[in-house]
Amino acid sequence: MKENQTFELVATAASGLEALVGKELRNLGIECQVENGRARFKGTMETIAKANLWLRTADRIKIVVGEFDAYSFDELFEKVKALPWEDFLPLDAEFPVAGKSIKSKLYSTPDCQAITKKAIVNRLREYYHRPASVPLAETGALFKLEVALLKDHVMVTLDTTGPSLFKRGYRLEKGGAPLKENMAAALVQLTNWRPDRPLVDPVCGSGTLCIEAALIGHNIAPGFNREFACESWDWFSDDVFEKVRAEADKAADYDVELDITGTDINGKMIDIARANAEEIGLGDSITFKQQALKDFKTDKEYGVILANPPYGERLGEEESVRRLYKEMGETFRPLKTWSKYILTSDLLFEEFYGEKATKKRKLYNGALRTDLFQYWGTRPPRKPRTE
Ligand SMILES: C[S@@+](CC[C@H](N)C(=O)[O-])C[C@H]1O[C@@H](n2cnc3c(N)ncnc32)[C@H](O)[C@@H]1O
Repeated sequence: MKENQTFELVATAASGLEALVGKELRNLGIECQVENGRARFKGTMETIAKANLWLRTADRIKIVVGEFDAYSFDELFEKVKALPWEDFLPLDAEFPVAGKSIKSKLYSTPDCQAITKKAIVNRLREYYHRPASVPLAETGALFKLEVALLKDHVMVTLDTTGPSLFKRGYRLEKGGAPLKENMAAALVQLTNWRPDRPLVDPVCGSGTLCIEAALIGHNIAPGFNREFACESWDWFSDDVFEKVRAEADKAADYDVELDITGTDINGKMIDIARANAEEIGLGDSITFKQQALKDFKTDKEYGVILANPPYGERLGEEESVRRLYKEMGETFRPLKTWSKYILTSDLLFEEFYGEKATKKRKLYNGALRTDLFQYWGTRPPRKPRTE
């Protein structure tokens, strides 16, 4: 495989976040099309490295090895076998095949997986001249494949990422109900926060929202502290990651002054949040302190409050959670220049907060349907022109 080879690629994303992934790709200078659950794009090994290192809201970067329609298992077998597997998989590759099948004639996912595996094994055996009597060793690097069928259309992909991109490598402990890091980065990007404005998370838990905001504020690549599956592949150039990491190192701006604060009623959560921020070297960029939400006061202006409070999903919690929503309304409403963004699955949130949201946005927090209730503050006055 050559460094300038072009691959068909997808960046997978949680439902509702696809457009943000598309926007992030375009900001990296990568053209893409946004589809359900993913953004599609083309690129070289450098594009793969960049996407893995820089995408804040995606789950995984996958190479589309092949795409076709299949209505019978014979057709699936032949079309998978016709793909150039020897370009991707060395003889000792470990290559588990995951699967899914939705609204397709070939509805049995385990059968689709087994047939795909068999077709690849056959192709590799023929290419490497191995007898059918000796199983392939599969003791080498990991190449995670997936065969996904949707309305008889098959997509066979190879995962370049490894553990999902939300695993940034900074979370030592997470506490109760943490947000995934890519969801937290998406929430920050859905607000009107800019690094020169104050940002407050008054129910910060393990600090994910504050840490993701600080990463954005300092322009730090979210994948800077971790490795990716494709780095262990024999054909994937080491130089590419070295170059992309060096560029990311240069792009980070640690001198930007940020005003990011996380508070939580639970002192143990504050210790966890601090430890997580220290782990990624952002200890000085975020202030964490123990405080009950109702005690939040500020004389700053044009800030952003971003909150992921408890949702009251568990039995007996509903009443205390709704009391907290009421406190939120009483505490935040007087802050006219501040914008407030609150994520909850409680459809009656506005009633308890005491005000209709300017806008709501449906989002999935894992499997849970939630809304981001948005209350926009007044705009800062335009700065007078200097010339
Ligand atoms: C869903 S968790 C936040 C998780 C966080 N976004 C993260 O990623 O770790 C909600 C947090 O609200 C805090 N909390 C509950 N009632 C509070 C109150 N009255 N004042 C401040 N924090 C409160 C809890 O201690 C908990 O850590």
